[in-house]
Amino acid sequence: MKANMSSTRSSRSSSVISIILAVVLVGLPIPSSSTNRHVINFRSPGLYPEGLAYDPSGQHFIVGSLHSRTIHSVSDAGVIQTIVSDPDLPENATILGLAVDSTNRRLLAAIHSAAPLPPFSALAAYDLRSGGRRIFLSPLPSLPGDDEDIARDVANDVAVDYKGNAYVTNSAKNFIWKVDRDGAASIFSRSPVFNSQPVAADADAGFRDCGLNGIVYISKGYLLVVQSNTGKMFKVDEETGTARLVLLNGDLVAADGMARKRRDGTILVVSQKKLWFLKSQDSWSEGVIYDETDLDVEGFATAVTVAGQDRIYVLYGRVVEGIMGNYKEGEARELFGIEEVSSEKESGEDKIWLYVLIGFGFAYFCIWRFQMKKLITNMDKKTS
Ligand SMILES: *[C@@H]1O[C@H](CO)[C@@H](O)[C@H](O)[C@H]1NC(C)=O
Repeated sequence: MKANMSSTRSSRSSSVISIILAVVLVGLPIPSSSTNRHVINFRSPGLYPEGLAYDPSGQHFIVGSLHSRTIHSVSDAGVIQTIVSDPDLPENATILGLAVDSTNRRLLAAIHSAAPLPPFSALAAYDLRSGGRRIFLSPLPSLPGDDEDIARDVANDVAVDYKGNAYVTNSAKNFIWKVDRDGAASIFSRSPVFNSQPVAADADAGFRDCGLNGIVYISKGYLLVVQSNTGKMFKVDEETGTARLVLLNGDLVAADGMARKRRDGTILVVSQKKLWFLKSQDSWSEGVIYDETDLDVEGFATAVTVAGQDRIYVLYGRVVEGIMGNYKEGEARELFGIEEVSSEKESGEDKIWLYVLIGFGFAYFCIWRFQMKKLITNMDKKTS
């Protein structure tokens, strides 16, 4: 009789466990680990893309090209299609930073011609609704008195606000241009703070002369920008262009592209070697680098983007190999990659997952206690 009773009890509690387990397994996102990261390989001979953006309407990535005056979409599965082919750009010009203006369904591209090509720095806007028709191609003005043949501007990266204004970094001269929705370009911010920081001691020739680089627009009326050769970050007022140094717990040496996770405001900064994860509690007077992930150095990551709300991807465009051009005619690289990167420390979802799990554990404990109580009362009744 006693044995019989205990077996009923254990079968009942095990069925409760399986129900709870089923709920846990079906109802909750499985935390992603580094082993099931999404890797996209795509094929395009000699592309060597530097810029990367994500177009939420088209649900695909967008990449530029080192010398072919083209911009392409890349699907989740690695299918590549040409969305812009613009023969009005100077021959062999490079597409650098890219930004999608979701409000106006436009694509903005920073265009630059490196030496020995004639100097050229511009911002181009293309209409994503009409298959990539160009809206404007605006040359970016040099500082008064600057001789472009001696030291040329470098239009490097671009961010866009909700009104369609674009902000373009000049990595050679450490200032920021603004290009309005109609394509009118001006010098927007040339704060002295951009020239106030020492070049990092370990800055090598690859980025020693590269100043302001990655830029993101924050909806609260300011921009964040990083500087490659000093590893510093600046907060720039959207109205006045005044800039302040953001206090960080480390330097982002060789920082290149930037992106922002809309869900929680995490800022991502990429370099050839790593991806940094940053957060701030006070609208970026101070920030903290709370995690970093090592990247494939050979892939030479130059850009980072966020797909959807929170999937982070870097572009392995192997640009330096393309710039060196030391491959034989017809032997340019064909394969490039876009790879998902995650931080073990930053996944807020894991925490929710943990809380829910604890909640379930507590619920299970209550059910178990309730049953035990019933059982003991029953047993008491029987024995008495
Ligand atoms: C563009 O690149 C091609 C291939 O390297 C070269 O043959 C051509 O001369 C270049 N054009 C200019 C204007 O430099």
